[in-house]
Amino acid sequence: MTYFSPRDGVLCAERVPLPVIAEAVGTPVHVYSAAALRDAAQRFRAALSILPRVRVAFAVKANPNGAVLHLLGGCGFGADIVSGGEMRRALDAGIAASDIVFSGVGKTDRELADALIAGAGQFNLELEEEGQVLAALARAQGRRATAVLRVNPDVDGGTHAKISTGRRGNKFGVAIADVPAMYDRLSRLDGLDLVGVALHIGSQLRDLAPLEEAYDRIGQLVADLRARGHVVGRVDLGGGLGIPYRADDVVPTLDAYAAMVARVTRDWDVELTFEPGRVVAGLAGVLLTRVIWVKPGADHPFVIVDAAMNDLARPALYDAFHRFEAVIPDGERMVATIAGPVCESGDVFAVARDIDRVRRGDLAVLHATGAYGAAMASTYNCRALSPQVLVDGDRFEIVADRYLPEEFAA
Ligand code: LLP
Repeated sequence: MTYFSPRDGVLCAERVPLPVIAEAVGTPVHVYSAAALRDAAQRFRAALSILPRVRVAFAVKANPNGAVLHLLGGCGFGADIVSGGEMRRALDAGIAASDIVFSGVGKTDRELADALIAGAGQFNLELEEEGQVLAALARAQGRRATAVLRVNPDVDGGTHAKISTGRRGNKFGVAIADVPAMYDRLSRLDGLDLVGVALHIGSQLRDLAPLEEAYDRIGQLVADLRARGHVVGRVDLGGGLGIPYRADDVVPTLDAYAAMVARVTRDWDVELTFEPGRVVAGLAGVLLTRVIWVKPGADHPFVIVDAAMNDLARPALYDAFHRFEAVIPDGERMVATIAGPVCESGDVFAVARDIDRVRRGDLAVLHATGAYGAAMASTYNCRALSPQVLVDGDRFEIVADRYLPEEFAA
């Protein structure tokens, strides 16, 4: 089901024609569908309902917009955060501190202390020393910190190298062989309740096999830890499920994922935490842009749009594919390279792609930008952060204003 489809020849977000949004808010603009978010959230929870004890924490990094977080909080999601800023966003959106999981390889003392004061429900430790610092901070506050130890299972998720996190050489987690002895030491610390382990092997995973292999290794680890006398009550299985960016992309279904998890974790007897980001928000957003020029090129014309790599960094960073569609297509096609105005040759959304024919002034969208779109925006080239709009049925509201730091204003 797509929430961005044409009605009477005009591409709409739910029931709102995109030209209406462009007229009201200007372009470029990130447009989200509330129904798509709710639908994805509910489908994720429904698929996991075959598992006994589950907590779901949305990976705020995928889309930290306050209205999006508020909506997902209303769907029963907690928040997986990686910074003090993300914690602020989650709390402001009404997500309970106890439903916050604090991940991240470089939490500062200040961030740890603030999260303790706020009452964050779980700290995912990345190294032994972090556990010692957290325990000391908790003792100083007269509190106890609930933590799990993030494990690096040394499994290749088979995704882009820059979003792969579970291999030996990656900066994340503790080598699985080192975990038992470290767990022994950390579990003796006053102020720290070490309740389990966590992992996350990468993002945009298109195959369940590496996940299953990693989960299997964690299952063995849980048994080892119990054999050493530890009570292991929680395992955080991270996020990572891929979405179809191309029309013909094949990704695991949520039901297949849940069935795999159920099979692998059958005897674990733990509460499972999930940290989905992309699979919840990715397909719920588009980047609406206007064609500035169609510029003749050596091999193909360049379609220069007013969105750029500062609005959507994924193609420049990961050679990511985002579908391009004219808002009012005329039925003709063209082969073109789609680029933004930023002064880098990498500011290109698609190379020599067969697309709807567009002309100067036409509106178009880049699809599947609801995750890691606005979230990764910058003001590079002194460009504004684009506004964000949330559509719900036949209404829409601006949920983030266009933002240009004052010192950039002409
Ligand atoms: N949990 C942890 C510990 C993570 O590091 C991440 C993503 C997630 C959960 C959520 O993963 P997801 O379900 O969204 O795959 N900017 C990149 C993606 C970076 C992902 C970083 N970590 C992109 O645009 O593809």
